[in-house]
Order: sequence, then C-alpha cells, then structure tokens
Amino acid sequence: PNENLKTSNNVRHVGSVKTQPSDAGYISHLNAVILGEALASEEIDLIFPSDEFSRQAHVPSLEKYLEMYKRSIEDPAGFWSDIASSEFYWKEKWSPQVYSENLDVRKGDIKIEWFKGGSTNICYNCLDKNVEAGNGDKIAIYWEGNEPGSDGTLTYIQLLRKVCQLANYLKDVGIRKGDTVVIYLPMLMELPIAMLACARIGAVHSVVFAGFSAESLAQRIMDCKPKAVITCNAVKRGSKVIHLKDIVDAALSETSRNKVCVDVCLTYENNLAMKRESTNWQEGRDTWWQDVVPTHPTTCEVEWVNAEDPLFLLYTSGSTGKPKGVLHTTGGYMVYTATTFKYAFDYKPSDVYWCTADCGWITGHSYVTYGPLLNGASVVVYEGVWMENLLSSSTISSLDGVLGREITLKVRKQMPEDLMVVGLFKPTFPWVHGLIPDVILSRIRLINGKNIREFIEHHNWKMPEDLMVAPNYPDSGRCWDIVDKYRVTIFYTAPTLVRSLMRDGDEFVIRYSRKSLRVLGSVGEPINPSAWRWFFNVVGDSRCPISDTWWQTETGGFMITPLPGAWPLKPGSATFPFFGVQPVIVDEKGVEIEGECNGYLCVKGSWPGAFRTLYGDHERYETTYFKPFPGYYFSGDGCSRDKDGFHWLTGRVDDVINVSGHRIGTAEVESALVSHPQCVEAAVVGVEHEVKGQGIYAFVTLVEGVPYSEELRKSLILTVRNQIGAFAAPDKIHWAPGLPKTRSGKIMRRILRKIASRQLNELGDTSTLADPNVVEQLITLADC
Ligand code: WTA
Repeated sequence: PNENLKTSNNVRHVGSVKTQPSDAGYISHLNAVILGEALASEEIDLIFPSDEFSRQAHVPSLEKYLEMYKRSIEDPAGFWSDIASSEFYWKEKWSPQVYSENLDVRKGDIKIEWFKGGSTNICYNCLDKNVEAGNGDKIAIYWEGNEPGSDGTLTYIQLLRKVCQLANYLKDVGIRKGDTVVIYLPMLMELPIAMLACARIGAVHSVVFAGFSAESLAQRIMDCKPKAVITCNAVKRGSKVIHLKDIVDAALSETSRNKVCVDVCLTYENNLAMKRESTNWQEGRDTWWQDVVPTHPTTCEVEWVNAEDPLFLLYTSGSTGKPKGVLHTTGGYMVYTATTFKYAFDYKPSDVYWCTADCGWITGHSYVTYGPLLNGASVVVYEGVWMENLLSSSTISSLDGVLGREITLKVRKQMPEDLMVVGLFKPTFPWVHGLIPDVILSRIRLINGKNIREFIEHHNWKMPEDLMVAPNYPDSGRCWDIVDKYRVTIFYTAPTLVRSLMRDGDEFVIRYSRKSLRVLGSVGEPINPSAWRWFFNVVGDSRCPISDTWWQTETGGFMITPLPGAWPLKPGSATFPFFGVQPVIVDEKGVEIEGECNGYLCVKGSWPGAFRTLYGDHERYETTYFKPFPGYYFSGDGCSRDKDGFHWLTGRVDDVINVSGHRIGTAEVESALVSHPQCVEAAVVGVEHEVKGQGIYAFVTLVEGVPYSEELRKSLILTVRNQIGAFAAPDKIHWAPGLPKTRSGKIMRRILRKIASRQLNELGDTSTLADPNVVEQLITLADC
C-alpha cells in the first residue's frame, strides 16, 4: 500500500559513505553519529523517503546535505553569497564583506550584519523579478474565504499592480522610507498586499494579529509610533461579525491620550462582513481603501534599500509584560526565507503551497508572504475561522461512566439522554475531578449524527470563548476540501490543528482525495508522535514526508528542519540543522554538551535571517538572548539530542507558554489579571493541554473579603480577553487565598506547575516556603 515511503519495518542503512571528520564541531558530530551504523541498528521508528522522492529532491541524500552543510559552516560567506548573487536581484552588490558579526557579549556590543552595502528590494524580488522572468500570468495568490464559495485569485502581474497602487497611495499621504506602518488586518489578500507595498517604498511594516485586543494594539502603536494604520471595517468569524475598525478606534484614542497620534487610518471595506454605512468614522483621519487606492497608478518605482535597512517589526511575547519588537532587516531575511522555503519543502515551480498561519505571526511573514513569493510560488491564502465549537464546561453536571473509549454524559436539564462523547478520554487530565475540560466536551456528537454545534445553537446555549485551533466550518473536512480544490502539493500547519482534526475523526479526511499532496509541514510547538503519525498516515496517506520545522520569530526562518528526500524522519523530531546553522546544547553553566544529551538550545554564529535587535531596546536584546550563555544565541527552548544526532525540542524553558502555537508571556496574562479591580495578585503557569499543546492556568488572589464566584471567574477571563485577546484567555482560574512564596517573597512557580498538573506527590521541597500551609490550601481549592 505504501509505494513511496518505506516505513520502519523496512530499515536500511542510510549512509554508506563516511566523509572525513572535520574540526567544525557539529559536522564531525554528524559524521560520527548519523553516518555511523548507529542509525541503522536497532532503530525501529525511522521513516524513509522513497527513492522516487529522493531522486527528484533538491537534496537527494545525506551525503549531498553534508557536503552543502559543511561548506555552509566552513565558508558561510562563500555559501551565502553564491545563493544571494544567483537567485536575487541586487541593484548594487554588498561590499566589502558578506557578513560581520559579534555574538559574544564579552567582546562588545552584539552586532549582526549580512550583505551590508548591498542594495535591493524584497518586493521587487517577490514580484517584478517573477513578472520579468515571464511568470506574470502565474497565480501568486489563491484566496479562499471563510464562507465556502467565496474566493479569488491574483496573478503575479495583478498582485504587482495592486501593490503598486497601494504603495503610491502610501507615498501620497507622506509615508517615506524608514517610516512605520501598522497593519491590523485579517487574512484578506489585502494583508500581503499591504506588507509588500510597505516593503516596496522602504517603509517598515508592523503587522499586529487581528485577534489582539485594542489595548494590545495600542501598546504596540505606542512603541513603534506608526505614520499610518491599515485595517478593515469588520471580519466574520463563523457566524459572528467582529468590528475591527472599532478596535482600531479604541486603540487610537488610547494612544492619542498618550500623545501618540496616528494621522492616517486606511480602512478596507470588507463587504463580506459589513457594509461601510455601519462603520464608525473619523473624518480627516479615516479613508476607505476602495475610494483611494484604485485611483492610483499601477506602477510604482522601487525604493532601493540597503540590505541592513529594516524590513519589519513584529511584536512577540517575552518573559516580562512588555512585548518585544523583533526587528528584521532586508537582505539577509530575504535570502534566508527564500532558501529555507525552497529546501525544507523541496519546492518546485509546479507546486501549490498552503500555509495555514495568519500573517499576524512570523510564520505568515516568512512562509505565507515572503519565502513563497520570492520563489515564484502559487500560495493559498485562507481567511480562516476562529473556532467556536468548544462547549462551556459549566453546562455539564456529571460524568456518568467510562465505557472504553466512549463516555456517556449526563447533562443538566435540557440535555436528552442520548448524548454521548466519542473520542479518547484521558482520566489523568488535570481537570477531570472538577469541571470537565472543554476539550473533552468538544468531542460530543449527538447519536443522530448532528454536530454538537448545531445542537448548542438550537438550545440557545452560550458558546464558549473563541479558540483558534482548526478550520471546522462548515465542518472538520474544510482543510482537505481546500487541498483538493486547489490541488495543494505542500501543506504547512501547526500541531494544534493536526490534533484538533485528529480528534474529529478520520472520516472528515478520507472523504477527500488529497492525492495532490507531496510534502507536509509542522511548526509552532513540538508535535507529539501520535499526532505526527496521524498526519503522516491519514492526511498524507503514508506518502508525504513531514518537515517539522523548528524556528522562532527571532530567527526569521527555519533553523532545525528535515530536508525531505535527504534523510529518514523520526516522528516528533525536527531532525537536523539547516545550512549555516550550528545548534548547540548547553548545560546550566553554558557548557556545550556533546553527543546524546538534554539541555538548553543555543546557536553558535549568525545566519542571514537572524533578527538584528529589539526595536528601541538593544540592551534587552543582549540581555535576553546573548547574556544567558555568553558566546551563543539562546533560544529559550529546551532540546535533547539522541544517539543519532536527531534533535527533539522539549518546549520553552522560560516564562513563555505556547498555546496552540501562539507565544504568550505568563507576565502579560498576570498583569491583565491584576488589572481587574478584585484581583490583587496572579501567577500564571502553562499546563499540558491535549489540543492546544499548553493551556493557561492562572492562580489568583482576590482583594480581602471578596468571595470567589462563577461570576468573578468569568469576569477575570473577560479581562484577559479584553486586554490581550481571546487566544490568551485562561483555561482555568484557580482561587488562591495565598500563593507559595519564599521568605524573600518570590513565588515558587515550580510548585504551582505541579499543582496545576495535579502531580501532587511531586511537589518537592516545600521547606523554604514562608508559609507551607498555603500549598495544602491550594490543593483543597483546586476544583472550586
Ligand atoms: C516553539 C514560530 C518545537 C518553540 C515559528 C519556539 C517549536 C517558539 C517548533 C517560537 C517546532 C516553534 N518544534 N517547538 N517545530 N516551532 N516552536 O516565535 O518553543 O511564534 O521557541 O515562532 O515556538 O514561536 P514563534
């Protein structure tokens, strides 16, 4: 049945050729470990690419990879300048050096520069270059709306014209090279258009994910002080209309109270969601996109920028409450995103590529917009939905019995007896003794085959908080419907989506052909082996290699990733480093550990896509990333390396949690919670969550005398939704009359994490607590 990929029972030697060990640490390590017999010996969980796939791949074998990798480490200047000169247009070549770097805080300021002195333009390389190469009529963007049947396309030439019109408008209203523009748009074609238009004129875009609240948007605007904001009036999420423009209005009045005034608010009229007549308007500042942009010329001269001129700012969460403005520059980012895209997905011109990420995150920057378009690819842009199919836990009164994998629920009043839950039930799930977790309830299907969603709507029950997990509108087969519709060949998504669709059942997948698929991709969080296998076996029909790409907002592009065709995969491992990347694993003291090990993931040396600073705060850049382990870039992730040299990411080791692939700082959630008038203190930890990877678990201490109630719980959650966005809403609020603190007043999060995950016999040493009774009290209140 499985012609193309031989799976584990069919283990064979991977590399019979041994190359000479070299001094460049990782290479000799690779030589010694990967090419040795170790890999082929007792390993039972290897998945090999078929010979047919490997033959056609850019990198057909481990030997070829090693040859290229070795060169990229030993001669980065030669390796990257060959690629930069042959695949991109430069108005002027860089000089005198290809790159210069200092990544060692002990040797002075951290500085990374690539192709400095060169001048280019990323928009030109994405669009004009492809048009000039004769690909003007090739589809650049297939746009698929939330509502089945709403769609559209843009060819490269059409996209170029639209970008030029907007670029001309932006110039008209006074946006110049180096000015910042904030983009707050859902996944309409106008989002990549806006990014490219900024790039064309040398303006710096800062896209803010359209799920962020007015407060979060205001905070970002205050930090980067844009000349203009680009938004749309509204967007539809399932059946709900969200008034984005109102959110922008609220954010802008907040910023102007703080003396940061934005003069231009360009608003796209999103007809599908709302007519312009019902949109709130501020004359003078607000302009309808449709009124002004189409009247501008369809050609616009390119602003040639220096390779080290900023391309964009993207805010991401860190371990303090203030988001960090990650700054990427033009030349290195361009070369790096395009090259990683080409190799990690084995991209060919005949491919149709779909990445489910939103352009509000780095994945949408590097692998919806820039990487694919630089390669002249046809990209599916999907408007997406924010799932609302999770049923509020408060409607269920008791768990009746567990019959194998089926659970019958008795539910309050309205619920008929014939309701059942189908799916995997984990009795160890942290909340099972109290409220039943949403995630289990979402599997409820009526026996008569009706979806629970319809049922809930029918009974007028309250739908729970938005949760962005997987497209399930009109049903959970939507992704595969889209794959078949556009004959998608490369499908790149997040583990949370995989897990969520896996839960919904194979029937939604196998109903569709999916024959066009040839490469799958995963990003955002570690993918657990069972989700990996489902993705591989069911979605990819055991035919398509999975590129599990590890990278970060800061890295610009892939760092550790399979090259499909070059080596076998292990479910759950991101495998080996991309060209030019030297991952190192260090212990607490910052000492590099060799061979099989577990520790903190760092990177030695720079790569072209690396971020150059945190906007306006170079000191924080150095402190956060380069001081923890001097000499290295510190990723904030834990990682282990097995005997074969495969990398296994183990998650964040700092106060950042990863919810459905979204980075959220615990400090941000805490500060939102304490802004609630009845909350005096909050401590937030991540807890394992079956679908989202991690869930948000918040301990809250209330103002003296205030009783904890369901009402208050809801209002605390609402506060977080309003301050950050729905995706950051805590999954669990745990009332904590006191928090476990050391005598010096430091909260002991280690203990909170154990309580949150109900690992109560692993609390460890509690003797240093100022008041050990607090722990008992918390345990008693766990299921309140
Ligand atoms: C996590 C998203 C395991 C990791 C591109 C990292 C991953 C953070 C993977 C960055 C992966 C991303 N396997 N973990 N393949 N990809 N991560 O900045 O913890 O939104 O530090 O960038 O996501 O998240 P960010």
